[in-house]
Amino acid sequence: MKKIIVTGGAGFIGSNLILKLFKEHPDWTIMNIDKLTYASDTGYLKPLRDSERYYFKKIDLVDRDEVKDIVKTFQPDGVLHLAAESHVDNSISGPEPFILSNVVGTFNILEECRQLWQEDEESWKNNRFVHVSTDEVYGELEDDGFFTEQTPYAPNSPYSASKASSDMIVRAYFHTYGMNVVTTNCSNNYGPHQHDEKLIPTVIRNAINHNPIPVYGKGENVRDWLNVIDHCSALETAFLKGKAGEVYNIGGNNEWKNIELVHKLCDFLNEEVGNGPDGDYKNLISFVTDRLGHDFRYAIDASKIKNELGWEPSTDFDGMLRHTVLWYVQKYK
Ligand SMILES: NC(=O)c1ccc[n+]([C@@H]2O[C@H](COP(=O)([O-])OP(=O)(O)OC[C@H]3O[C@@H](n4cnc5c(N)ncnc54)[C@H](O)[C@@H]3O)[C@@H](O)[C@H]2O)c1
Repeated sequence: MKKIIVTGGAGFIGSNLILKLFKEHPDWTIMNIDKLTYASDTGYLKPLRDSERYYFKKIDLVDRDEVKDIVKTFQPDGVLHLAAESHVDNSISGPEPFILSNVVGTFNILEECRQLWQEDEESWKNNRFVHVSTDEVYGELEDDGFFTEQTPYAPNSPYSASKASSDMIVRAYFHTYGMNVVTTNCSNNYGPHQHDEKLIPTVIRNAINHNPIPVYGKGENVRDWLNVIDHCSALETAFLKGKAGEVYNIGGNNEWKNIELVHKLCDFLNEEVGNGPDGDYKNLISFVTDRLGHDFRYAIDASKIKNELGWEPSTDFDGMLRHTVLWYVQKYK
């Protein structure tokens, strides 16, 4: 039996990850620790509630005593650390929770694991901490080029700066202590369970309610979209097969301008729901003042994780995006 802590398991990616790991690893017991911020929803994990292989504890990672207590009591063999404040717009209007949860919170769980695992030689060697981060730490790209694991960090928002800071702390724990850590930097995810505030849920909710669909600037910003299930399988791969101290970029080789993505979502809604104004949900698109410091383009070179660990995305974008649209239509109707 392996005992795994997933932090942030009541959020978008964490809940998808726990459902996958629970199903695929019947010999794992999973402890979900989450503060339950506005972005979380424990309902997605309802099917696991009565299982003896799944536990949930409401914990704020910023509270060091609570973190120490759960790490000492549960004695994890591994950690997948996802908990974070994750919405860039919120980090611009109020950066403090980002510094606390993403920087101090990461330090607390990492340090408590270091202290526990260092007590025993086997644990120290075998127990792994996967730190889940974002491609936004690399800053922005022009029309060409890709982020590799060697790209210098250049975070531009308080969110990406807080994630970059936590990445640096994790890096230092490998170089200083030799702790068994792996960091992943992933591109934009899409799929079920994402909070209402994010782009794809916002487009679908506003469209079916015939409200304006807000698009920043001219919608020219480019993002590399990856299905959440592919991200979860990459995290599982990094946890099981990654090399200690390494960083792996995760991406979908799937770049879209925001406006192209919104058009695609509207086309799926036209086909699946109909009833758009004058027959087309695109008529609701409304360009709004751009986000402050809005990064132009993110694009990931994910060849390292493919070549070294054998992971690559396996889902079909159009099929999974349509499936995602249907999931949110069901939620918001
Ligand atoms: N969503 C993406 O496209 C994306 C892409 C790359 C990386 N990431 C990273 O993946 C991770 C998960 O992202 P997400 O989209 O699922 O975010 P989310 O906002 O949906 O979920 C985050 C979860 O963390 C919890 N949390 C926040 N602060 C906490 C604290 N102090 N203590 C305990 N729990 C806390 C929240 O309650 C929530 O359940 C984050 O670290 C994020 O930076 C996300």
